[in-house]
Amino acid sequence: MIVKIFDNEQLAGEYAAQIIIGQIKRKPGSVIGFATGSSPLPIYKAMVGACESGDLNCSHITTFNLDEYIGLSHRDPQSFAFFMKHRLFDKLKIDEKQINRLSGAAEDPEEECRAYERKLNESGPIDIQILGIGSNGHIGFNEPDTAFSEHVHIERLTEETVGANRRFFKSEDDVPKLAMTVGIKNIMSSKKIILIACGGAKAWAVDKVINGKEDPMVPGSILRSHPDVEILLDKAAASALDRG
Ligand code: GLP
Repeated sequence: MIVKIFDNEQLAGEYAAQIIIGQIKRKPGSVIGFATGSSPLPIYKAMVGACESGDLNCSHITTFNLDEYIGLSHRDPQSFAFFMKHRLFDKLKIDEKQINRLSGAAEDPEEECRAYERKLNESGPIDIQILGIGSNGHIGFNEPDTAFSEHVHIERLTEETVGANRRFFKSEDDVPKLAMTVGIKNIMSSKKIILIACGGAKAWAVDKVINGKEDPMVPGSILRSHPDVEILLDKAAASALDRG
C-alpha cells in the first residue's frame, strides 16, 4: 500500500488523474471504475482538463459506476448516475454504450445486482478502481459489517451515512435508505485501486484503514491486502496517522 499526503485536494486529484491518464494512454480500452461523492471531484476536474487540452482521449474506455441509491432513476439529479454523467462522462465525451451503471429504478433490484455482476465479469477486471471513503470507513456503499466476500448487492445505509449524504437532499426523509453497491470482493478484484480522502471528517477512517487491523467493521481496512493500492490524502485526512 502506498500512502501519499498532499498539501491540498487539488494536488491529490491531479496526481491520481495522471495515473489514470497514463493507464488510458497505455491501454485505450481500459476499464475504469468510478466513484461518486465530493472526494473524487478533483480527479475528475483534472481529467476533464486533460481531455479539453487534447492530452486524454476516453473514446475507447469502459466505465463502471460503483453504486446507486434504490428508488432514484438516472434522471434524478440526486442519483449517482446523474452525478457521473454530468460531472464527468459528458465532459469526457464517453459514449453512453460504454457506460455501465446500476439502475436505481430497476423493478427487481436483486436481479439488477446479478446482471451488473455478470457485466463486470464479462468486461473486467477493472484496470483502475477509484474510491472515496465514508467517515465510518465504508467503501462504495459497503457499510460496516459487510462481508469481505460480498459481490454486487443491496445495502441498508447506516444512520451515519444517511446523515452524511443528507446535504444533497431537501430533508433526511428524502435520503434513500437502501442502495445497490459493487461488493468488496469486486473492488478487490480490480487490478489497481486509488482511494482519495480529504478533510478532517475522514481522519478516523483513514487511520483505521492504514494502521488498524483488518476488520469488517471498517470495510476499507481490507484494502491493505490488495497488491496495488494507493491512498491519497490531504493533511487534514492524514491528521490522525501520527497516533498509529
Ligand atoms: C457515499 C458513496 C461513497 C463515497 C462516500 C463519501 O456514501 N457511496 O462511494 O466514498 O459517500 O463521499 P464524500 O467523498 O462526498 O465524502
